[in-house]
Order: sequence, then structure tokens, then C-alpha cells
Amino acid sequence: MVPPSAVAPTAAPAGQPVGTPDAPAIKDPVKDTILTPRFYTTDFDAMAAMDLRPNEVELEAICEEFRKDYNRHHFVRNAEFEGAADKLDPETRKVFVEFLEQSCTSEFSGFLLYKELSRRIKEKNPLLAECFAHMARDEARHAGFLNKAMSDFGLQLDLGFLTANKAYTYFKPKFIFYATYLSEKIGYWRYIAIYRHLEKHPESKIFPIFNFFENWCQDENRHGDFFDALMKAQPDTVRGFTSRLWCRFFLLAVFATMYVRDVARKEFYEALGLDAREYDKYVIDKTNETSARVFPVVLDVRNPRFWDGLERLVANNARLSAADESAAPAPLKTLRKLPYWLANGLQMAQLFLMKPVRSEEFQPAVR
Ligand SMILES: [Fe+2]
Ligand SMILES: [Fe+2]
Repeated sequence: MVPPSAVAPTAAPAGQPVGTPDAPAIKDPVKDTILTPRFYTTDFDAMAAMDLRPNEVELEAICEEFRKDYNRHHFVRNAEFEGAADKLDPETRKVFVEFLEQSCTSEFSGFLLYKELSRRIKEKNPLLAECFAHMARDEARHAGFLNKAMSDFGLQLDLGFLTANKAYTYFKPKFIFYATYLSEKIGYWRYIAIYRHLEKHPESKIFPIFNFFENWCQDENRHGDFFDALMKAQPDTVRGFTSRLWCRFFLLAVFATMYVRDVARKEFYEALGLDAREYDKYVIDKTNETSARVFPVVLDVRNPRFWDGLERLVANNARLSAADESAAPAPLKTLRKLPYWLANGLQMAQLFLMKPVRSEEFQPAVR
């Protein structure tokens, strides 16, 4: 790790190590919370033994698309990046760097999982292993590109340190499918929504990285389609009563986490001329609609009660953060936070129990 004193100071946000684009300081990863991107591991033997025959033709076609590597020459930095970081005011700079860090961490988390999967199942399940290897290639590119953008701000994530020190969450394969499918599709909608907005409002394009989002999100879309095809090759993952409950659970967990996180950092979206709530509503609605192509049920996100519930989570979360920031001793803090944790649990249960929408009613044409 580069000690902060070893590099020339620049105007870095308070509390962060300082560096220069030529000698970026290594940034400590943000404290883990329920809202920070997770790292996953799974049952590799079960993955290796997976029978793809029920949907092998589609998976082979997706692999062929991956082989074409459409974005091979896409992630090349151009002159626009030179000096772009200096044009941001300190407040925008702070929220933008947070966005880069969060995005880089989640891209990198995808890379690690896909890379490990491709390595561990190579002998027994070569088609699946090859698909994972291509996706790992894409995610490595995405993470690298974001990390390079961080170095424009004199900061860099130590990805090796992150690999060795992050806690890994174990999910059995079907839960990996739900979680990664959703994160790929939501990633697609997040990137394309920002791209299209900035196309109409070029004055809000605060950094040239957004020019790359259009082709970039196509990678995420293909990755999502891969998991869609994989679940269809393992139809029990998206069939039956318990699968319906789990799909609801994962949709809710992903949507609620994103909404609470994005509203808490609405300044970033404001810097782009976006309203965090409106942006998230659009992304959630689109992801929910897309998910109906493979999940047996999706959430009733067009019901105002859904949004009221998410707003209550936002309010509880603000109280939790306020308690965290107070100078009170730790046990007192915990005591103050307890009612909001309970309220969050109750609210999540209420949202989970809302009547879902059956996917065939929602996406009849594609099923
Ligand atoms: Fe990615
Ligand atoms: Fe991806």
C-alpha cells in the first residue's frame, strides 16, 4: 500500500488518502454495510455437474456472441479524459469518486466470481466455463476502466487487497443465478438510462466515462441473457412455489438496496441533472419488466404502496445514519438504532408479502 505521505497532495476529499494521476494513492475500500457491493462464492461441484441440455442451443448461441467480443476495442481512453477531473467542483468530485468506487467494486466482484467459476468447472463443463471466462474478461475490462478513471482523481482501488480481504457470501447456484441475473439486468438499465439522459443533456456530462456507457451496457445485457438462458436450462430454478418466493425475495432485496443507497447519495444524480428517485423508479420498473421473461413472478412496482414502503426504508435509514454519526458511546448508539432496524425488518416483510404479479400476465409475448 502506498502511504499517503509518499505522494504529493492534491485536493482529495476529506478522509481519503491523497495522490496524483501519475502516482495515485491506494484508497481503502469503504466500510462494508448492507449497501456496499458483495463478493460471492458458490458450490463449484454443483455448477460443474449442471446439465445444460434443456437449453444447450441457446447457451451455445450466447457463447458464440461472447466469442465475437464486440467491445474488444471499445474501452480505450481518449484525449477527452485529459484534465477532465480538474473541472469538477469539490462536492461533485466527492460524490463522483464514490460512484466510481462503488461501480468498480461491483464490476470487480463479478469478475472474481466468473473467473473462479470458469477455472473450477473447466474440465467438467466446458461450455459453461467458456461463457464464464468471456464474462470475466468483460468485467475485468469494466473494473479496470473505472479504476483508471479513479486514478484521474489521484485514487485507486487496491483490487488485490480487496480480493484477499473482502468477506465472501456463499450462495448455492440457484441463488447466484437470481442475484447475478438481477445485477446484470439492473446494471444494463442503470447504464443505459444515464447514457440516454446525457445524450439529451450533454451539458450535464460531468466526465467522459459516460460516453462509453452505451456499448458497455450491452455487455451487461448479454451477461443477463446468459443467466436467463442458464435458468431455462435448469427450469426447476424458476418453477414451483419456493422458487416464486425466492424470486420475490431477490427482486425486493435488489430493488430496496438500490433505492435506499441511491436516495442517500442523491447528490451524485443531481450532478448529472437527474432526480435519484425518478431515475430509480425507471430502472426498477424496467428491470422488473425484463425479469418477467424468466422469473415466474415479479413485483407489483406500479402499485403506489410499493414506493411508500421504500420511502419508509429511506427514512429509517436516514435515522440509522444519524445515530451512527452521533458522538454517543457504542451501546447507546445500538439502543437508538434498534427501533429503526426493527421497523426496516417489518417494512421489508410487508413489501415481501405484497401480492406479486404473475409473469405470464406481464410478458405474455416473450414467454
Ligand atoms: Fe460489467
Ligand atoms: Fe456484467
